[in-house]
Amino acid sequence: MQEIDIAEIVKWETELFENSLGTNYLHRELKENPVANYFVLELANKFIGYMGTWSSAPNGQIVNFFIIPKHQKKGYGSHFLDYIFDFFLSQNINVITLEVRVSNQIALKAYRKKGFISSFIRESYYPDGEDAILMIKYL
Ligand SMILES: CC(C)(COP(=O)(O)OP(=O)(O)OC[C@H]1O[C@@H](n2cnc3c(N)ncnc32)[C@H](O)[C@@H]1OP(=O)(O)O)[C@@H](O)C(=O)NCCC(=O)NCCS
Repeated sequence: MQEIDIAEIVKWETELFENSLGTNYLHRELKENPVANYFVLELANKFIGYMGTWSSAPNGQIVNFFIIPKHQKKGYGSHFLDYIFDFFLSQNINVITLEVRVSNQIALKAYRKKGFISSFIRESYYPDGEDAILMIKYL
């Protein structure tokens, strides 16, 4: 991911999640956060998704992840996760965590299919008060 991708990411995050990490946050992540690695998925040179990660061996975290709607349910999210698992392994990471809204059944299903298990609930984790499920995968 490069700074040029930030505008597209903020646009899609706002549409998909009704809020975004924000332009300033993403700039700081790219420039100042030594544990952050952000990835863009392209199809024929066109942006179709992104994933933000933090790496601190042996722990990795998926901070945010989406595939744009017209390319969802075609296997790209699954392939993207496989790529990130290899990336994490290359960083000596063997435990990955992420938070997902309890209502986000599609993401929960996608993560379970890739071997994540639900660990515990973080109550009122999101600004609107919804709980998060903390999911874990061992590589
Ligand atoms: C979650 C997300 C990234 C999955 O990406 P994707 O490219 O659509 O996923 P895939 O096509 O690889 O599907 C992987 C599995 O997810 C599940 N899945 C994906 N879309 C689904 C849908 N519309 N309905 C039910 N299950 C679905 C299925 O189990 C699927 O495997 P299968 O097709 O073999 O049954 C995508 O739906 C998305 O961007 N959602 C909006 C943003 C979001 O919620 N991000 C996660 C934040 S924690």
